Amino acid sequence: MRKHSLSPEILGQVGQMARGVIEEVGRAYIGPEDVGELLLTALVGRGHVLLEGVPGVAKTTLAKAFSATIGCRYRRIQFTPDLLPADITGTYVLNPREGSFALREGPIFANVVLGDEINRAPAKTQSALLEAMQENQVTIEGETRPLDAPFMVIATQNPIEQEGTYPLPEAQIDRFLMKLNIGYPSTRDERRILQSYAGPSPEGRAILSPDDILRMQDFARYIHIEDELCDYIIALSSFTRSHGRVLLGASPRASLSLMYAARGRALLHGRDFVLPDDVKRLAPIVLGHRLVLTPDAELDGTTRGQIIREALEKVSYRRDVSAT
Ligand SMILES: Nc1ncnc2c1ncn2[C@@H]1O[C@H](COP(=O)(O)OP(=O)(O)OP(=O)(O)O)[C@@H](O)[C@H]1O
Ligand SMILES: [Mg+2]
Repeated sequence: MRKHSLSPEILGQVGQMARGVIEEVGRAYIGPEDVGELLLTALVGRGHVLLEGVPGVAKTTLAKAFSATIGCRYRRIQFTPDLLPADITGTYVLNPREGSFALREGPIFANVVLGDEINRAPAKTQSALLEAMQENQVTIEGETRPLDAPFMVIATQNPIEQEGTYPLPEAQIDRFLMKLNIGYPSTRDERRILQSYAGPSPEGRAILSPDDILRMQDFARYIHIEDELCDYIIALSSFTRSHGRVLLGASPRASLSLMYAARGRALLHGRDFVLPDDVKRLAPIVLGHRLVLTPDAELDGTTRGQIIREALEKVSYRRDVSAT
């Protein structure tokens, strides 16, 4: 039974806003169209995104264009081996005229925070992001402060393990709602990239405001998901947990994330209910990165993507699962 529903007008408006954002992001980032949509899906689901890709595939360009398009305050943190937690959160500095200490806010105080090359900083610094990502607050010298709303971390990392990098611990990985692989452009797209630089490079135009985002996040809570679809999500997660080649499967937080993301996708598509297709489309990018494979599986080149594909093939969605 649906408790609330969104009017067709609201759904229409949200769908239109989403298309505007996707189109605008697509002017700066030339590549698969769904990348802009997925970033917005994560934001509407109150989640954070990990972008993985080799240097020079426009990860920073994409994150910048996205935050400009949604009219949000954007800050960038370049992660380096000597970066300290206080460089992220901020510090109290003495104001000599008044003889008192005032907080100098770190770059975490923004709507969209780009953590560039997050695996270049040691665990202690990475964990300064943890509290922020999970609780939307930071603690600076014992004092807890709320962060801006909306708040989203877009972190980037290079998939090639280099010397002097610190792989993200599992707990940190699990805090990202989705991981997107940013690959090389197709030849056709690369030609467009070269051509677009013949003229002035497009600047992201604000299509939305932070208030629009907050309203969309609120609407997402009214998107209906039927019990059978929740069971389907749970079955997908449990499949990964009992898989012989998986050491650590999808957590309940992963199941929740898949539900939030599916609701976000439904909303952006102008629907007030989740379809099995929302779950199927999002499962690889919401669940995949959280899996830890067994050493054997790593050795023989099994990928996380394969495990999720197997889950999608073997776990069937049935409307009448409760009857069995
Ligand atoms: N798909 C693309 N669409 C538009 N511009 C692109 C694309 N790929 C590369 N570029 C251009 O290439 C340059 C490098 O992009 P950018 O700095 O965003 O890459 P990056 O992935 O963040 O690299 P790094 O990992 O080194 O930080 C920019 O001028 C960017 O506009
Ligand atoms: Mg970059």
